Amino acid sequence: MTEHDQPDHDHDPHDHPGHGSFDERARDWDDDTKVARGRAVASLVRDLVTVDDTTRLLEYGAGTGLATQFLAEGPLGPVTLADPSSGMREVMAEKVADGRLPANARIWDLDLATDERPGDQFDLLVTVMTLHHVTDLVPVLTGFANLLADDGRLCVVDLESEDGSFHADTDFDVHDGFRREDLQRWLESSGFAKVSFHDAGEVDKDGRAYPLFLALARPNH
Ligand SMILES: C[S@@+](CC[C@H](N)C(=O)[O-])C[C@H]1O[C@@H](n2cnc3c(N)ncnc32)[C@H](O)[C@@H]1O
Repeated sequence: MTEHDQPDHDHDPHDHPGHGSFDERARDWDDDTKVARGRAVASLVRDLVTVDDTTRLLEYGAGTGLATQFLAEGPLGPVTLADPSSGMREVMAEKVADGRLPANARIWDLDLATDERPGDQFDLLVTVMTLHHVTDLVPVLTGFANLLADDGRLCVVDLESEDGSFHADTDFDVHDGFRREDLQRWLESSGFAKVSFHDAGEVDKDGRAYPLFLALARPNH
């Protein structure tokens, strides 16, 4: 496993205020709630998309790679895990080393908002609770469309539109979830078609339940 086979990028936490905070939280990230979410996302993806041992998977904003961890319990092709947080990448590297993530998984330092898009192609791109941290979505979504093979599928799991309370304790800019029609419009203007939305459970925070969606889309190559 190589830590990174992309051009090297220095991610200064001052340029990317969110990443430093994820570095600090990475080691304790996998609590019961997030593990359960990873398992539920993997199950829903398998319900909606054909995944077999040829499926080239990219998990973007993978954090500790929880969705991949559970997808890898079934047939799955080569795995790439991308996250700009070095703390998250360290935890993923440990999971690769101890077998919780596939032994051949690649781990990339990648932020499509600022980095050059890799030339690789994937059949399935999964991203969970990451897009609400991406201020300028179109370059990232366009990068997703170009990373996907013609018959590829994008699965975005994120928060339904909320009142801002989910991130009330943070001081960096995030989307307060997404209205489905807004995300559909962004996806369609970034090279995606056949967008459909599916309920994806909820996440509990501070005694409140925040509903999640899964947006499924195909690149419009
Ligand atoms: C809320 S965490 C979700 C982690 C994981 N997907 C999960 O569900 O447990 C958001 C992740 O997105 C990453 N991230 C933040 N901004 C990003 C960006 N612009 N591009 C890619 N990843 C980003 C963070 O480093 C963090 O690991």
